[in-house]
Amino acid sequence: MKRKQFLKSLLGASAFLTVPYSSYPKDSSSILQMIEDTSKSSKGNLFGLRARPIEKVKIGIIGLGNRGNTLLQMCRWLVEHNHAEIVALCDLKAQKVTNAAEKLGKWQKLKPKQYSGNKNEWKQLAQQDNIDLLLITTPWEMHTPMCLYGMNQGKHVASEVPIAYTLEDCWSLIEVAEKTQKHCIMLENCCYNEEELFVLNMIQNGVFGDLTHAEGAYLHDLRAHMLSTDYYQDQWRLKHHIERDGNFYTTHGLGPISFYLNIGRGDTYSHLTSMSSRELNLSSTAKKMNSKYTKFKCGDMNSTMIKTALGKTILLQFDVHTGRPYSRINKVVGTKAVHDGYPSRLYIDKEELSYWGHQWLNPEAYNQYKTKYKHPLINKLESISEKFKQGHGGMDFVMIYRLIRCLNLGLPLDINVYDSVMWSAITPLSELSVATKSASVPFPDFTGGNWKNKKPLEVMRTLNTSDTKK
Ligand SMILES: NC(=O)c1ccc[n+]([C@@H]2O[C@H](COP(=O)([O-])OP(=O)(O)OC[C@H]3O[C@@H](n4cnc5c(N)ncnc54)[C@H](O)[C@@H]3O)[C@@H](O)[C@H]2O)c1
Repeated sequence: MKRKQFLKSLLGASAFLTVPYSSYPKDSSSILQMIEDTSKSSKGNLFGLRARPIEKVKIGIIGLGNRGNTLLQMCRWLVEHNHAEIVALCDLKAQKVTNAAEKLGKWQKLKPKQYSGNKNEWKQLAQQDNIDLLLITTPWEMHTPMCLYGMNQGKHVASEVPIAYTLEDCWSLIEVAEKTQKHCIMLENCCYNEEELFVLNMIQNGVFGDLTHAEGAYLHDLRAHMLSTDYYQDQWRLKHHIERDGNFYTTHGLGPISFYLNIGRGDTYSHLTSMSSRELNLSSTAKKMNSKYTKFKCGDMNSTMIKTALGKTILLQFDVHTGRPYSRINKVVGTKAVHDGYPSRLYIDKEELSYWGHQWLNPEAYNQYKTKYKHPLINKLESISEKFKQGHGGMDFVMIYRLIRCLNLGLPLDINVYDSVMWSAITPLSELSVATKSASVPFPDFTGGNWKNKKPLEVMRTLNTSDTKK
């Protein structure tokens, strides 16, 4: 395969690459050319998009596996408070739809329309007239086509992570969202975790001074789930590891960091370089478990360095092969303070220089910051019963609450189409860098230059309304 064809397949729709190493491009000028060739134009006009307020948001859910069921559950409080209604459910498997409808029947009177049975049945759901919002919780390769079709049917769309994993899909999402003026967002729940919101609130209030560096990750031992034949539908997740190499799951670490660094709101990613370690852990476990699949291209650990236009650096890591405690790292470094996650620790720099005393704040001092800078959104939702606020320690509820309430009130959403695409595009770019001996890869401008304009973060805006129902 010629170099140009290889790059086209990497940057284009081809999901599973089987390209010999000898045909990888050796110089970064051809990468630059190909990224330019793939790029389309962006108006960048969907920052702050306000849509018509929707008194009760009518939701259709596509994909009722592990995640679809969690998100369905997260809607309960909103349904019970007349902010939303689930009007349609779809999955390939009829039994999954029946089970979800049964669960929903315990707390919603209206029976949702049910769709199942073939791989295109979701299009019938997307055409259903009374739907305002599609929640898309299917395997990765379906996110972009489902979003595009949904927007073209006049629906707002919210996709699970990542919203896309090819550059062509990223550009298509921008194109159709700008054409239809529909919300097209990624459901990045980690942006709503209490720790990340606390750090963001401190940054916004100047505790960190000017930021220089951040680190994030998705370090999660998924071997048992990926190798199981019945956890993910048809082992879809494992199959990505057979044919691809790079960072496939960027957004849990990068979403919150991008908020910290004002990405799209005064700064942007400029370029990256990515490197994967050798693969050992997944294949050895696969052999022990007599898995049908035992050879994997994806290295155990991928490390990607991203530089921003204003000179900040980001280290982003990805490892779902190694037995280790879960971590998203959540480190941020500024001129006045440093935070490190897992567990959360805070360092505040002293005025006078001293060699001694470079220590994390003690628990008492840390807790003073924790209380003072607790994000207003977390405070606001304090009175809602824990029974509703589940899903990864509560962040899934906060995310769904915020999405639905902003739609109710016709307010801009916290995460927009540019954020969603930029956080996801790191995946194909990391693959390209890994494939070219860690060549430096430039980041396309998905915002039409609008990233240069400073804008406030929507997630820092409290819902200031006369709304007594919360
Ligand atoms: N944000 C988070 O914390 C989080 C957590 C878990 C999963 N996820 C994301 O959620 C998505 C789904 O993951 P999962 O763990 O639920 O996987 P899963 O395999 O359990 O669920 C996927 C579901 O999609 C259905 N499906 C497949 N093709 C379909 C089609 N053509 N039409 C309708 N339904 C179809 C499958 O039958 C299955 O029920 C992934 O994108 C994953 O990355 C996110």
